[in-house]
Amino acid sequence: MQRHTTSTNVPKTRGKSNQNIMQVEEQNAPVELPETVLSEVPRRGWFWTISDKIVAASFKLPLVGQVLRRIFPRGLRARIHARRVWELASRAYMENTIIPALAATDGIVLQVGTDRYTRHYSALFERYGCVLHTMDSEPEVALFGAPGHHLTADFLKLDEHVSPGAYSAVLLSGVFGYGIDDVISQDRALCVCSKILRPGGMLVLGWNTNLVDDPLKLPGASEFFAGAADSDLPVRVGFAGETTIYDFMVLMESTAE
Ligand SMILES: C[S@@+](CC[C@H](N)C(=O)[O-])C[C@H]1O[C@@H](n2cnc3c(N)ncnc32)[C@H](O)[C@@H]1O
Repeated sequence: MQRHTTSTNVPKTRGKSNQNIMQVEEQNAPVELPETVLSEVPRRGWFWTISDKIVAASFKLPLVGQVLRRIFPRGLRARIHARRVWELASRAYMENTIIPALAATDGIVLQVGTDRYTRHYSALFERYGCVLHTMDSEPEVALFGAPGHHLTADFLKLDEHVSPGAYSAVLLSGVFGYGIDDVISQDRALCVCSKILRPGGMLVLGWNTNLVDDPLKLPGASEFFAGAADSDLPVRVGFAGETTIYDFMVLMESTAE
């Protein structure tokens, strides 16, 4: 995917509008994602539609999956998956709204978890004049991390390696349910965020309604964080037809070390 196209200081925004974005104003409001604006989601071509179905089947059906995985090499499946993710409205929101907001926090931003579809994020942050650090527990995705600023480590132990208050923002998206799965680990992750963020630092927590329970119910959410109500960002945002939710929180000053 070649998407670094401009030489200007401000990255081009992607084509999708914010029409299918729903803001959920109250932090603990039940997350309901009505399928109201599916027609606004761009249709993919037949190749990607069929490929998506095959990839989805390969993950859901064990026996069929074994056969399909032999037919479709891992690299091709990963590319198909990356393209599928990149086309989501939530990804456009990430790149057009979240990344500029985090880059404006005037400090170093940490992205937890990398993947093929996030490999250009360090360049996006750089164009906004911000340094991005990335980390992931899996060594094989290090190539998708920020060049020269990637760490292979368990996020749940990161506070043992990073100075308190080192980061102005943490982007913790797509990790709950993808490795940090139980509530004790998720609460620990919020605790780690509270230690590595500077006072008033921002946490963007991206999660999926079909994978995990509402993380704002975790003790650490209210112990360490408040909804980012003062910023230009919403407290919570969801996307019609998707399971992705982003929560925007700031580290309360009294809890920061
Ligand atoms: C779906 S990818 C998320 C990519 C990206 N953060 C995003 O916005 O979607 C999940 C990644 O989280 C990583 N991960 C899961 N548990 C982790 C942990 N305890 N510490 C660091 N990385 C972890 C996985 O290795 C995987 O590469």
